[in-house]
Amino acid sequence: MRLTQRSALLAACLAAMFVAAAGALAQEIVPRLTGPAEPMADVTAPPVSSPVEFDVRPIRSYPEQPPIIPHSIEGYQVTLATNRCLECHRREYTQLVGAPMISFTHYMDRDGQMLADVAPRRYFCTACHVQQTDARPLVENVYRDMLLLRPGDDE
Ligand code: HEC
Ligand code: HEC
Repeated sequence: MRLTQRSALLAACLAAMFVAAAGALAQEIVPRLTGPAEPMADVTAPPVSSPVEFDVRPIRSYPEQPPIIPHSIEGYQVTLATNRCLECHRREYTQLVGAPMISFTHYMDRDGQMLADVAPRRYFCTACHVQQTDARPLVENVYRDMLLLRPGDDE
């Protein structure tokens, strides 16, 4: 074997080893999201997690967080023709239903102009607002409120 051939072979071996090692490491630290390791294996499906519906508006993790939906939304349709969410959360209906009005930012177009009704870019509510479920977290949550990040509080 010529010298260049040999070094090319060595480089290829090293690259293969690196890929294998990285793969092993990734397998160890990244939780599986795609189901069983054997795709065709017969495994019992995990139970479907239930949405949390406590009807209390929970504290937001930070001021501009889209608040989570604290009530059932089963069967609520949001399509071009109808928007069930707005039947309670639109300004006109809140007094009757007792629902909080969609934030005034939802009436603004992207130039900051206030519109009479919800802006198209805020129409599909569940693109931003979600329900919580009782699903087991895949990774430990180490989030800390920014109030705990004041100097001196960091032990
Ligand atoms: C039948 C009326 C009704 C409908 C329909 C409805 N909501 Fe609500 N929503 C409420 C009420 C009342 C509250 C106040 C908390 C509670 O009582 O659950 C609320 C609370 C919320 C909150 C929490 C606000 C905050 O500041 O914490 C969000 C977000 C929300 N709803 C989003 C939605 C979305 C998205 C939909 C459609 C998928 C929807 N709602 C449909 C009545 C409704
Ligand atoms: C592009 C993301 C986005 C979409 C789409 C959206 N929201 Fe929001 N929503 C937010 C954010 C961010 C906040 C909190 C900051 C603010 O008030 O703008 C919020 C706040 C709210 C609040 C709390 C208002 C308050 O004053 O406490 C309600 C209720 C709400 N949204 C309902 C809805 C409903 C109903 C829809 C569908 C018609 C909707 N949102 C669509 C991002 C969104």
